[in-house]
Amino acid sequence: MNLNPFETNNDTVTTSVFGSREMLEPAPVDKIPKHPTTAEIAYRIVKDETYAQTQPRLNLATFVTTYMDSYATKLMNEAIAINYIDETEYPRIAVMCAKCINIIANLWNTPEENKWKTGALGIGSSEACMLGGVAAWMRWKKRREEAGKPTTNPNFVISSAYQVVWEKFSQLWQIEMRTIPITTENPTLDPKAAIERCDENTICIVPIMGVTWTGLNDDVEELDKELEKYNKTTGYDIPIHVDAASGGFIMPFLYPDHKWDFRLKWVQSISTSGHKYGLVYPGLGWVIWRDKNYLPETMSFSVNYLGAEVTQVGLNFSRPAAQILGQYYQFVRLGFEGYKEIQSNTMKVAEYIHEQIGKMKPFVNYSKKICNPLFIWYMEPEYEKKAKWTLYDLQDKLRQSGWMVPAYTLPSKLEKRIVMRVVVRQGFSRDMADQLLTDIANAVAELQKLQYPTTTKIATDNSVKVHGSVYTHTGTGKHGK
Ligand SMILES: Cc1ncc(COP(=O)(O)O)c(C=O)c1O
Repeated sequence: MNLNPFETNNDTVTTSVFGSREMLEPAPVDKIPKHPTTAEIAYRIVKDETYAQTQPRLNLATFVTTYMDSYATKLMNEAIAINYIDETEYPRIAVMCAKCINIIANLWNTPEENKWKTGALGIGSSEACMLGGVAAWMRWKKRREEAGKPTTNPNFVISSAYQVVWEKFSQLWQIEMRTIPITTENPTLDPKAAIERCDENTICIVPIMGVTWTGLNDDVEELDKELEKYNKTTGYDIPIHVDAASGGFIMPFLYPDHKWDFRLKWVQSISTSGHKYGLVYPGLGWVIWRDKNYLPETMSFSVNYLGAEVTQVGLNFSRPAAQILGQYYQFVRLGFEGYKEIQSNTMKVAEYIHEQIGKMKPFVNYSKKICNPLFIWYMEPEYEKKAKWTLYDLQDKLRQSGWMVPAYTLPSKLEKRIVMRVVVRQGFSRDMADQLLTDIANAVAELQKLQYPTTTKIATDNSVKVHGSVYTHTGTGKHGK
């Protein structure tokens, strides 16, 4: 006889998901469960664990694609079982990858005349940056060895607003990172200051198109001019690697006349994220070299597939192939004009938010104009003195409506300045911008009613560092002399 009124026979084939025993048990944390469960229950447990997260398209902190159309999604899902590295089994995907490299190289005005341009794919810009950096290091090393000179103390030069990948590059390969602080007067990499930090051991200078911290562009053309003078007088061959994680897919479509790419003499490699403004879901990065002479042979494995010379370069071995189909689909589907329409709309929405934020009494935009669809703002200094709240409080209020808008302090030399950033991407319309602006205005109206300072206000007034609750995608910002 069943004495327990709650005891049920709840694992028959007809038991519904929420009638099952698993729905009364904690999900596994330390040990793999002893028994299997049904696919429906496993799906529900995993799905529901991530249920309370924000909607990716309301995540204005990330740079990474959060919208693709249904055909792109279908193509990528259908390719989910394919490992890119199996090039002999899936040779057409290797050729498709080479076609993407060609298309991107041409968007960046490659001078390479070979049918197949020199480049590589990565899991993201991080891998692409690493490959560009390692190639610069190896080229430098080879030159030094040929000249019988020591190769023990390589360095590279970058602004203090670098993304964390460059800190990793520095630490993993033990290459000294020399940073030029961004300041109020020089909000981007100062070309003259960058040259002053160069010497015979400099493997490259790394300007950034679409600086993670500010959304601005370093002046690559001016840097190239300064480098030309410097290399001429010293006899060095210091090149430029452009980290165009965000800008690489904005510049060719919106500012085709602006010279930042292979039109400049010393630009020898460029990296970008296919999964940012390349409009593909994560993870996809690209690196392109000026031509095959700039990719050290030791890094590349050249194989002939279906008549195409495919160059295999990478830190990872296995990697998903679906992103390549996604990238090639976007090129075919959108064409140059289609990309231009999307980037231009994205830019217009960003400009609109920038303009509206600029009109709000508590805020000042960091830059008058924006050059990528992302920007930062800070609190008007007089308003800030009297305010009982900080941008960290605004960040938390916006989270309550689902928006992820990060607040953080700028890197070294500007580390006291708390800013807030919005990254506009495909999938963010003018209507959504209005909703965001309304939520910001409502949040500010509530914060203005505060009678006592918030904990973040007390902390910042006492120079105690506050850690924002939204990931900023930047770096530590600690370096910068
Ligand atoms: C300038 C810059 N470089 C590199 C990266 C790293 O890119 P990924 O996330 O594609 O590895 C980012 C990411 O935000 C970035 O903004």
